[in-house]
Amino acid sequence: MNEQKIMVNCALPYANGPLHLGHLAGAYLGADIFVRFSRLSGTEVMFISGSDEYGTPITITAEKNNKRPQEIADKYHSEHMETFRNVDIIFDKFTRTTDAEHVKDVDEFFMNLLEKGFLEKRYMVSPYCRKSNRFMPDRYIEGTCPYCGYKEARGDQCDNCGRTLDPIELIDPVCKIGGERPEFRETEHYFLMLNKLQDSLLEYLGTKDFWKPNVLKYTKNFVSDGLKPRAITRDLDWGVPIPINGYEHKKIYVWFEALIGYITGAREYSTEIGNPEYWKSFWLDKNIKSYYFIGKDNIPFHTIIWPAMLIAHGDYNLPYNVPANEYLRFQGEQFSKSRGIGFTVNEILKIADKNSLRYYMASILPETGDSDFSMREFQDKVNSELVDKFGNYIYRLISFIDKNKLSIHKPEKLSGENKKILDMFKEKFDQYSQELYEIHIKRGLQIWLELVISANQYFNNAQPWKIIKENKEECNDILYTSLKIAQYLILMIYPYVPTGASEVWSMINNTVKIEGSTFEKLLSIDEFAIKKQNPPFTKLDFGEVINN
Ligand code: 2FM
Ligand code: ZN
Repeated sequence: MNEQKIMVNCALPYANGPLHLGHLAGAYLGADIFVRFSRLSGTEVMFISGSDEYGTPITITAEKNNKRPQEIADKYHSEHMETFRNVDIIFDKFTRTTDAEHVKDVDEFFMNLLEKGFLEKRYMVSPYCRKSNRFMPDRYIEGTCPYCGYKEARGDQCDNCGRTLDPIELIDPVCKIGGERPEFRETEHYFLMLNKLQDSLLEYLGTKDFWKPNVLKYTKNFVSDGLKPRAITRDLDWGVPIPINGYEHKKIYVWFEALIGYITGAREYSTEIGNPEYWKSFWLDKNIKSYYFIGKDNIPFHTIIWPAMLIAHGDYNLPYNVPANEYLRFQGEQFSKSRGIGFTVNEILKIADKNSLRYYMASILPETGDSDFSMREFQDKVNSELVDKFGNYIYRLISFIDKNKLSIHKPEKLSGENKKILDMFKEKFDQYSQELYEIHIKRGLQIWLELVISANQYFNNAQPWKIIKENKEECNDILYTSLKIAQYLILMIYPYVPTGASEVWSMINNTVKIEGSTFEKLLSIDEFAIKKQNPPFTKLDFGEVINN
């Protein structure tokens, strides 16, 4: 069931503002859980993301703050790296699209497509602001979406129906800077000839009926319009230069080049580990599956544009799966920085620890539809599940063994209830593995929770505190079974709360660490070294935050 080797790529977040809970829910937490699970299953994984540093999201922020775009990108690149570390999301490489290596990769890609006839020069009509005397980036234009009627659609995309747009399609367009209706003027650009790629793309998409329904829906929306040539350069100063003389005032469109960042990240990582060719074993071997974890607004870029670019280029692996999530709301409302709704990741970490945060977020990931982050539910779930049910099981078990100074050994033969429960755990573990393999992160967690409840019931019914007075060997068998159960529970929760799980693991085993090992090896350990300490999970108390 598990693969030998996979590639996991995660949308490159714009380096223009703090990461918030919506980012974690949309892409990054699920990706990290999937990567940790895959590695424990014995799969070799390359896990890449990075900062998307060009494009108008960065220039808009820079203008607002009176800073240069590079200053903004530098600030948020370091901040994002730190934030991801703060919640145990650890990429092999977190690249930057302003890296020289990236520019090299983009040049190669651009020239390759140009030579093959997939890029052509064309004139297009672009919004021009008479007040500032310049062509305006698509994102600076807002208006009504011609497809769904959403009033705040941007010139590049409608956040309501997910379609990518051309600003000229907007009904009643307004320039965000000049505040006026823009003029539409002709300008020359390079176009990606999506029409020439249509057949291959449809053939590729025809093999993807296992994609999530929401991903297929957004992809079909896009394709149903027919694939037209799309401009992949812009009238802008901030971006990757076009590698051709005479285009000094134009730049490559951010989406065209940012996607190539996945390849740059893989190459840079390979160089850093002293094996510069390593990335090729992921990108060029057609048997390697690649997964792209992204939020839903990024779907068409990863299911249409990126595959089209890769088909045109010809050498590289196409996305295998794009398990995009939907949106996270905060207590029933949309996250909004301006209205102060919701938390950034670093803000919430001031009132909750990372184990609790990862646990709760994983339980509400918007995998199949939008979901809601509620502070009360956060507190209640962590306190009752992670602390009361799981923490107490471990604590009672360890305390009992420690208090009675027992050394537990593997029984010659397990029978009765002991055998029955371990067989059941083995079966449930296989189900959990299948769910996670299929990227059903929430379902995996539910199976774990069901097992925690069974573990407590087993321990209560077995009553080792009574049996110890009657039959030492039987008591050993119960505690051995309980420790094997603990192994399953700790390892299964590890992808979700890696730091907490590793600490609990060290209470029953002091020789092998979880990280770098596999389920198979760790679950076959039959010797235990008990070290009593309090489990790392503590209750949350949001008091006032909930009542406000
Ligand atoms: O939505 C975003 O934050 C984009 N910066 C995602 C880019 S993904 C890829 F192109 F790198
Ligand atoms: Zn729309």
